[in-house]
Amino acid sequence: MTKIRAAITAVEGYLPDYILTNEELSEMVDTTDEWIMTRIGIKDRHILKEKGKGSSDLGEVVVKNILKKKNIDPSEIELLICCTVTPDMLFPATANIIADKCGIKNGFGFDINAGCSGFINGLTTAAKYIESGFVKKVIVVGAEKMSTIVDYTDRSTCPIFGDGAGAILLEATEEEVGFMDAILLADGVGKKHLHQKAGGSVNPPTHETIDNREHYIYQEGQQVFKWAVTKMAEATEALMKRNNLISDNISYLLPHQANLRIITATGERLGLDPKKVLINIEKYGNTTSATIPLLMWENQDKFKKGDNLILTAFGAGFTWGAIWIKWAI
Ligand code: UT7
Repeated sequence: MTKIRAAITAVEGYLPDYILTNEELSEMVDTTDEWIMTRIGIKDRHILKEKGKGSSDLGEVVVKNILKKKNIDPSEIELLICCTVTPDMLFPATANIIADKCGIKNGFGFDINAGCSGFINGLTTAAKYIESGFVKKVIVVGAEKMSTIVDYTDRSTCPIFGDGAGAILLEATEEEVGFMDAILLADGVGKKHLHQKAGGSVNPPTHETIDNREHYIYQEGQQVFKWAVTKMAEATEALMKRNNLISDNISYLLPHQANLRIITATGERLGLDPKKVLINIEKYGNTTSATIPLLMWENQDKFKKGDNLILTAFGAGFTWGAIWIKWAI
């Protein structure tokens, strides 16, 4: 029997209009454009400023654009997965809110919170649902309003993050393209280095948690940096080895965009020509679950059918992994 595979047949991206520059940040905290560019590699990040709007509003734009581009009726979407650490609310799932806004009423949906590895976890989950034959058309969205959990008085985290959304349509195919293989891993030891202290069931919101600024990202940057550099390269190497891929066979690496130094170190460890390592961190910063679909969206014109793409990410959890895709369009 022919194997059913999950092919990416459309990609969309969206950034809110407002651009927060390094110059503006330098007026908010003790930092400089030079420090941010040298240590992180970010110039601008986009921020969703409108009151009352959340991650679902970013996700709505990309999902509607996919439906329009592919001329698909919303009733054809059987599963919508939203990858996010900034859901509209604790429940219901942001996936269900996006589906409602887009008229998707004939399927199911749920959120995935795997930190900055959200999108690679969402894509793998979607692919497995398709490969099993359970569904044929799935949308995976990465949608983040990171600005709601960034402490704009903390200079060590506020330059890093931005808001944005990206989405892909996955469809069942019998061709030898699409999702080929993945390695996904997690180690809860990472909790102490990267988390949000309050707002969950252990430490619910109180006046005190707000006064103590515990509803923001807490990050021990150097620890996260060390793990990220090692784990993205390790996962990618293991994935390539078990599929007999060498760096010459890889058309492009799409790494999570958290720090330019992490991205270039990962490319070097893998022995990849720098031209194959896709980067857009300077313009958007770290949009968590949205970085990889945004990167795919911006670069899709470069990809040819059959190209081998490797996606890799590292994030809160700790979570990390790598995916091998054969471009299908
Ligand atoms: O996507 C989720 C995963 N997250 C990541 O992958 C992030 C990984 N970590 C990083 O990207 C980096 O560790 C950071 C960008 C967060 C920090 O860069 P770093 O090179 O590790 O800096 P550091 O934390 O070691 O700080 C070096 C110095 C310190 O000053 P002292 O103690 O040496 O005097 C900091 O106070 O830089 C100072 N510093 C700043 N100076 C100017 C920290 N933030 C800033 C700033 N502007 N914005």
